[in-house]
Amino acid sequence: MEHTHHEVMEKGYSGENLDDDGREKRTGTMITAIAHIITAVIGSGVLSLAWAVAQLGWVAGPVALMAFSVVTYITSALLADCYRSPDPITGNRNYTYMDVVMANLGGMKVKLCALAQYSTLVGSTIGFTITASISMVAVMRSNCFHKNGHQVECNTSNNPFIITFACIQILVSQIPNFHKLSWLSIFAAVMSFVYASIGVGLSMAKVAEKGHHARTSLTGVTVGIDVSGQEKMWRTFQALGNIAFAYSFSAVLIEIQDTLKSSPPENKVMKKASLIGVSTTTLFYMLCGCFGYAAFGNDAPGNFLTGFGFYEPFWLIDLANICIALHLIGSCRVFTQPIFGFVEDLCAQQWPESRFIKNEYVVKIPFLGPFYLNFFRLVWRTTYMILATLIAMVFPFFNDFVGLVGAASFWPLTVYFPIETYIAQTKIKKYSSRWMWLKILSFACCIVSIVAIAGSIRGLAVHLKTYQQFKLKN
Ligand SMILES: *[C@@H]1O[C@H](CO)[C@@H](O)[C@H](O)[C@H]1NC(C)=O
Repeated sequence: MEHTHHEVMEKGYSGENLDDDGREKRTGTMITAIAHIITAVIGSGVLSLAWAVAQLGWVAGPVALMAFSVVTYITSALLADCYRSPDPITGNRNYTYMDVVMANLGGMKVKLCALAQYSTLVGSTIGFTITASISMVAVMRSNCFHKNGHQVECNTSNNPFIITFACIQILVSQIPNFHKLSWLSIFAAVMSFVYASIGVGLSMAKVAEKGHHARTSLTGVTVGIDVSGQEKMWRTFQALGNIAFAYSFSAVLIEIQDTLKSSPPENKVMKKASLIGVSTTTLFYMLCGCFGYAAFGNDAPGNFLTGFGFYEPFWLIDLANICIALHLIGSCRVFTQPIFGFVEDLCAQQWPESRFIKNEYVVKIPFLGPFYLNFFRLVWRTTYMILATLIAMVFPFFNDFVGLVGAASFWPLTVYFPIETYIAQTKIKKYSSRWMWLKILSFACCIVSIVAIAGSIRGLAVHLKTYQQFKLKN
């Protein structure tokens, strides 16, 4: 980075680039919104879908995948209409999910929404760090297996990869906002196509292999053969939770919508982007879930690329895992943006005079154009990433914990708040048929969320127990 030209500016961005409300002009299009959505939705969830379908079987598995996709699309469309209020097209903008809930519901619900949203975001960013390192460890192990045979124990520590990921995040966290992030989202979305395709391709090849006989069934893992009745119940709960959580992007929806140009109307563009983003995701999920199940049958591993269901061709598995890690760089950055924005807005309101917080310096970087440097942003975002990295390194079960947070926040974030804000904004009559349908949908999803919470608490307990036994033995 070469500092050729410094310039202090009074306000963040130069005057000609302002929107009607004095904020930076938005430049997002449907394409960038779709990229953000795909980057946010297809997290690491896709890798556990073969396992989830194996628990539910050929009937309930695809039905659950379809059902949650439809629910996600419906509630995203409702939330997209609440971006401007009181009217979805001519009303005032709200910049964040919390503002939307504040404008339509108010009171205690704003705090609950903030709690659900920010714990999901913080938990996910830490979870992404861990998942990315697991993928990179899988690359190391797959090379080791290739060289030394499958019987050798190939163990590598996660920590160097977690630290590498953190360093990259510290760099990309300096990208000031969502607008400037589009290229990273587009790159991440492309990566997700690559690894999902490799996963599907490997599964197809395995199904086509001579003498391939993975046991699959209409109802999934079989009571009495694979698992006990109770175990089957818990696993079904966990699988439903995994699938529900795999689709959710409501924690970043309003923030993504707030990048769109004002014409054509943001809510229309956002609805189309959600439809395209969610359908593309659904197609990939169906392929990964169903081909993964066909390939591995009832013993499908929890993560079908790093769980060592496939050993060869090792370079292709390496490529897929590297793509996962690269994709997660984008996902992590998209999920940190609302957290960064929230704290930065809060501090700017608290200390409006502070030059440390306010001043933007333009650094001209050769070939990349001007870069806006702000010392507060530099310090706070770096601190956040360092703390997140420390947590990722210290708690080995953090991803189980993220699953729990995801299960608990699925209903409030993806279903309850979108439906309630929509009802409040459009003033739907109580007990009208539309009102009844929305409430029934909300109630059904609430049950799924409760069941998924129970499943993930139980999963966490089982992991803790085996971990302790493992520690005692060593
Ligand atoms: C959100 O929208 C409402 C309704 O138009 C408006 O009164 C409120 O000021 C907005 N909130 C923010 C933080 O912009």
